[in-house]
Amino acid sequence: MPFDSAVAAERMLENAWTQAGPAALIDHIVQRFHDVHRAQFPKAIALARRVEAVHQDHPRCPRGLADHLAVMADHLISHQAREEAVLFPLMLAGGHPIIGHPISRMEAEHRDVDEQLLRLAMLTTDCTPPTDACGSWRLLYRACQEITGDLREHMRLENNILFPMFLDGS
Ligand SMILES: [Fe+2]
Ligand SMILES: [Fe+2]
Repeated sequence: MPFDSAVAAERMLENAWTQAGPAALIDHIVQRFHDVHRAQFPKAIALARRVEAVHQDHPRCPRGLADHLAVMADHLISHQAREEAVLFPLMLAGGHPIIGHPISRMEAEHRDVDEQLLRLAMLTTDCTPPTDACGSWRLLYRACQEITGDLREHMRLENNILFPMFLDGS
C-alpha cells in the first residue's frame, strides 16, 4: 500500500475506534489479542522445544527459542492480567485522576515487548526457516510470525488509540 493510503487507512481505523468508544475497543483487544496470545504461546513453546531437541545439530537450530518464548509468555500473561483486573475496569468506569500511572507502566512494558520481539527475530532469522527445514520447524516460524504481527497490532491499538482516550491533551 502506498504510504499516503496506508496513513489514510490508519486514520480511518483510529477514527472508527474512537467513535466506537473504549468499551468496544477493550472488548476487541481482550477477545482478539489477550485470549489469542494465551492460546498461541503454549503451542509455539511446545513446537520450539521439539524443534530444538530434534535439530540440535543443525547449524541454524534456534537454540534458546523455547525459553525466550516462555519468558515472553510469562511477562505477557501478567501484563494482560493487570490490564484486565485494574486498568480496563478503571477505563470502563470512565477514567480515574491517576490513570496516567498504570498507563505509563503498561507503555514501558510494551517497550520491553519490542525488545523481546527483536530477540525473537534474531533467533529465528526474521521467522525464515532454512531451506531444509521440516514441517514442524516451518510451523514454528509461522507461529512466531503470527505472534509478532499480533503483538505489534495489539500494542498499537493500546498505545495509539485506547490509552490516548484517557490522557490529558489527547
Ligand atoms: Fe493488552
Ligand atoms: Fe498492553
